[in-house]
Amino acid sequence: MRVIKCKNYDEVSEAAARIVAAQVTMKPDCILGLPTGSTPLGMYSRLIQMNKENKLDFSKIKTFNLDEYFPISKDNNQSYHYFMFENFFNHININKENVNIPNGETDNPEGECVRYEEAIGAAGGIDLQVLGIGQNGHIGFNEPDDYLESATHITSLTQNTIEANSRFFDSMDDVPKKALTTGMGTILKSRKIIILASGKVKAEAVRSLLSGKITTQNPSTMLNLHSDVTLIADEDALS
Ligand code: GLP
Repeated sequence: MRVIKCKNYDEVSEAAARIVAAQVTMKPDCILGLPTGSTPLGMYSRLIQMNKENKLDFSKIKTFNLDEYFPISKDNNQSYHYFMFENFFNHININKENVNIPNGETDNPEGECVRYEEAIGAAGGIDLQVLGIGQNGHIGFNEPDDYLESATHITSLTQNTIEANSRFFDSMDDVPKKALTTGMGTILKSRKIIILASGKVKAEAVRSLLSGKITTQNPSTMLNLHSDVTLIADEDALS
């Protein structure tokens, strides 16, 4: 695993944006795998800036988001659908038909997961997957457990994640308890992966990721099985 050591959050955002920009420049019709969370916000705002300055063209890219709460409506301002349009897609020249996010409104979550997994395959697979990391080492919503799922699936959130994500909701009770998420296999099939980590709250998960040991109790450690992963982390996350 390559590690890009950054001083702070701004440097993490800058390094991540530069890698995404390089990918889109090299392959204008590439497939990007995208995360939500507070960590990628700085990266998204830099990419928006580059697009506004006509330095980067998103008109041909396709995107697949990692995950979505379930159940949740698309116009709920805590849905990942809302988050992505608000923080990225509404501000760049992406063709909205090329945006893919698991449908948290479905009444057939299992069927939606099969459809989503197949759609990624039909598009040709993900060229560059951008990841954040949960405090407990989750990626997407692949939570620590005895067994991890390979393909896109419906999952229950751990108490740790419900608490961590409750900061975005009015109360802990409002956090959905389930999610639709791409699986470990979906993520590991990506041709290239970058994972962003910032802040002391991520230090323990990052320590375990960098130990090189693989455990389902920290799903991010499975990235050690992939041959092209870059961790972009600041001093606090590496502390
Ligand atoms: C969420 C998302 C993850 C994200 C993680 C970290 O639960 N499902 O994809 O990486 O939390 O979020 P943050 O960047 O806000 O710490």
